[in-house]
Amino acid sequence: MSNFIVAVDGPAGSGKSTISKLVAEKYKLTYLDTGAMYRMVAFYSLEKGVDLDNTAEVELMLKNINIDIDGDKFILNGVDVSHEIRTPRVTSIVSKTASIRSIREKLVELQREIGSGKRVILDGRDIGTVVFPNAHLKVFLVASPEERAKRRLKEYKEKGIKSDYNSVLESIKERDHIDSTRKESPLKKAEDAIEVDTSFLSIKEVSDKISALVRERI
Ligand code: C5P
Repeated sequence: MSNFIVAVDGPAGSGKSTISKLVAEKYKLTYLDTGAMYRMVAFYSLEKGVDLDNTAEVELMLKNINIDIDGDKFILNGVDVSHEIRTPRVTSIVSKTASIRSIREKLVELQREIGSGKRVILDGRDIGTVVFPNAHLKVFLVASPEERAKRRLKEYKEKGIKSDYNSVLESIKERDHIDSTRKESPLKKAEDAIEVDTSFLSIKEVSDKISALVRERI
């Protein structure tokens, strides 16, 4: 099949990116981390002091932003911001950024451009519901907020980012709330998505499960 699309959605810390990367490698799919794209816009708005409640400022920002993705490098207007977009500072405003309609429209268009006609796996919140509603496979990963906070804290430690369990848990709960109650493309399981609870599964177990689903369809 020349065109093959896997949609992986779910809340923060449910294992989307880890699993998507493994499955991408196994089946030679292009991997697209759509959350990183929202993070790039959030980072730009912080750097430039853009008022996200001001429509004109948001429109101007969208005209001035150029997003390039080169493997696992995220390039914003020619500068590699892969590290900067993962900081708690960006994390704290990304859900607000992602709730703005014009920002979503621009990024969804870009995601469709990147994915069309290819063999891809995309992770995000609205891939199976909005970006590629006809994806060949839709997976919805879930895990308890406590488990997700533990995972995120471990990632922060590995990256040398300072944080603590309670603030990570609070931030995850707050993002869950904003992402699933917003008007524009809220986080929700597509009707035809397969739900996998990763709370008590190892990375290998989840990856094997998703790989088996890909194998049946590819
Ligand atoms: O996946 P990650 O946690 O990096 O995503 C950051 C934020 O970007 C999410 O909390 C959500 O607000 C937003 N997002 C989204 N739609 C996507 C991917 C991410 O709204 N497809």
